[in-house]
Amino acid sequence: MKILLKNNKEEIGKEIASRIVELINKKPNTVLGLATGSSPITTYKELIKAYKEKKVSFKYVTTFNLDEYVGYKREKDSYKYFMHHNLFDEIDIKDVNTHFPDATNPLAYDKEIELKEIDFQVLGIGADGHIGFNEPMTSFDSKTHITKLTKQTISDNSQYFESIDAVPKEAVTMGLSTIMKAKEIVLIATGKNKRSAIKALLAGESKGCPASILNRHPNVTIYLDKDADPREN
Ligand code: GLP
Repeated sequence: MKILLKNNKEEIGKEIASRIVELINKKPNTVLGLATGSSPITTYKELIKAYKEKKVSFKYVTTFNLDEYVGYKREKDSYKYFMHHNLFDEIDIKDVNTHFPDATNPLAYDKEIELKEIDFQVLGIGADGHIGFNEPMTSFDSKTHITKLTKQTISDNSQYFESIDAVPKEAVTMGLSTIMKAKEIVLIATGKNKRSAIKALLAGESKGCPASILNRHPNVTIYLDKDADPREN
């Protein structure tokens, strides 16, 4: 596992986006695994910039998003909306090539992903160590499934909703074993509230920190800023 300490989110976004652009230019039909939340936003901004500067085309790219809320009240609250707003609507990706897990048939997502194979997976991390919506104690063998969100996740994510009551209580997420199938994974963690999750991740495998499964993967890079780095004091 490679750990890269960067000055800020902007630097992280630039570096990850340039890795993605390079990959797509080598392999135009690259399959990306994508995350929502604030962590990947600078990466998406840089990808849009690269597209507008004609440095890359997403015409043949396929994407699989990590997760989606179940039972959101307004379309605006969905991760699908988030992705369209923060990336898809600004680039030349084809709608049919963008995928989200379907709560009515979660396992179908694993089958689709197995057929395509994710080349490059972008991850954020929850303050409790979740990746996707795999909350603490999720089985390391889990496939795409419906999950209940913890109180902490509901409270952390309430900033994006009208009120805490509007935050869905359930989500459908790629499982931990689904995520591990990606050929290459990057995880972004910035800010003090991520430090203890990163500490647990770096301490080795434990079900209490779902992200710690990444210790088993042969090609992972963790991008940190100083605040999220437990090695800093
Ligand atoms: C949500 C998402 C995760 C994301 C996490 C962290 O719970 N399901 O995929 O990594 O939030 O979000 P943020 O990047 O906003 O801190």
